[in-house]
Amino acid sequence: MSDLQPREQWNTRLGFILAAMGSAVGLGNIWRFSYVTGENGGAAFLLVYLLCIVAIGIPILMAEFTIGRKAQSDAVGSFSKLAPGKPWVIAGILGVASAFIILSFYGVIAGWTLHYFTQYITGGLASEPAGGYGDYFGGFITSTFHPLFWQFLFMALTIGIVYGGVKKGIEKSNKILMPLLAVLVIVLAGYSMTLGGASEALSFLFTPDWSALANPSVYLAALGQAFFSLSLGMGALITYGSYLSKEHRLPGAAVSVAGLDTLFAILAGLMIFPAVFAFGIDPSAGPGLVFITLPGIFDNIAGGQLFGLLFFFLLAAAALSSAVSLLEVAVAYFMRKFEWTRQKTALLIGGIIFLLGIPSSLGMGVLSGVTIIGGRDILDSADFLASNIFLPLGGLVIALFLGWGWKKADALQDSDFGDTTVGNAWVFVLRYFAPVAIFIIFLSSIGLF
Ligand code: TRP
Repeated sequence: MSDLQPREQWNTRLGFILAAMGSAVGLGNIWRFSYVTGENGGAAFLLVYLLCIVAIGIPILMAEFTIGRKAQSDAVGSFSKLAPGKPWVIAGILGVASAFIILSFYGVIAGWTLHYFTQYITGGLASEPAGGYGDYFGGFITSTFHPLFWQFLFMALTIGIVYGGVKKGIEKSNKILMPLLAVLVIVLAGYSMTLGGASEALSFLFTPDWSALANPSVYLAALGQAFFSLSLGMGALITYGSYLSKEHRLPGAAVSVAGLDTLFAILAGLMIFPAVFAFGIDPSAGPGLVFITLPGIFDNIAGGQLFGLLFFFLLAAAALSSAVSLLEVAVAYFMRKFEWTRQKTALLIGGIIFLLGIPSSLGMGVLSGVTIIGGRDILDSADFLASNIFLPLGGLVIALFLGWGWKKADALQDSDFGDTTVGNAWVFVLRYFAPVAIFIIFLSSIGLF
């Protein structure tokens, strides 16, 4: 029985932080952040997003680390172990469900990234195709089999890493690639600023148009983006925290993960939006935004093909370490629950998630008439349901669990905060502020507040 084997442990504190960062930094920072920011009006949204990160995200991130390390179990098992027979476990169950949903469409977008990477290897995108990059992108995503092939390949890579196990597979990946991605994004942001759209982009990103805040869906979008980007609310960080031994300190790790994740998002904004304005692209163009904008940058830059190749390679690598954390949530749970081997579980669950993602891909083309939630296509509906509803809901339960389900003294001790001002503020946020804020944002988005 897997519970009787010693649990795998991260080798070092740095290994754990890097794995958590690898989970956090991914398509959410570049693909999702830029299009959601674009759709929601820029600066005012960005401000609400940052507030969500600091006032709700970081405290819940700390809560997940604390729960995982204490329980030494998976997203579901952690709750049933720490509070047997109590309803808190609902957060874990929601989390496993979210892992299925999110990874199903994440694999589709990551597949697009892989395709763009190979197009830069072969030179297929080195110069602007007839009809422009927008048409090229549209043609690619609306075809039936081509994107499925790349989605399959990406999922196979993800499964391969999870198959190998936490230490072999997860800890070693990304130690070099993430810093490289950061450097590349900074260089590209610098270049993007020279294309002529810099001042428009800076005012779009940093001069709030307060009227955007009149739209209640902005708050839900910001909250969902904060949860998605931090890998929060579904037990991914509980699961990672569970591979941590007791002697590691948590608060510093939580702040570094959130800080780096936010930095990546802002840099991505500085890379994308100047080019968006320079090329006259509509910032609210939706999920294709980076796939249409970036090739335009590479087309302008000397040695652009090499930049394009590197960028999409590193983005795919970042997506891979995020996808691994999503799959790991489900795999860790089913392994324990059914006493399957890691290998069998990874193949089976990963395979199911690939199949689940197929409709999201086909929704761009043959199934493009299908809309599910509020006029959204299949991929958008899956994203909306999981990211904007399930993750914040899971986060709400996690906050309440730590705030009310634990003795305060235990919470302070198990989090490494101790009885300090920051520690007490943290418990206050988990008890009152975060739950109330999430609740109000939910109510306002359905027009009740
Ligand atoms: N945070 C990742 C990104 O920004 C995606 C991700 C990985 C995720 N694990 C998660 C999102 C768990 C929500 C929950 O790309």
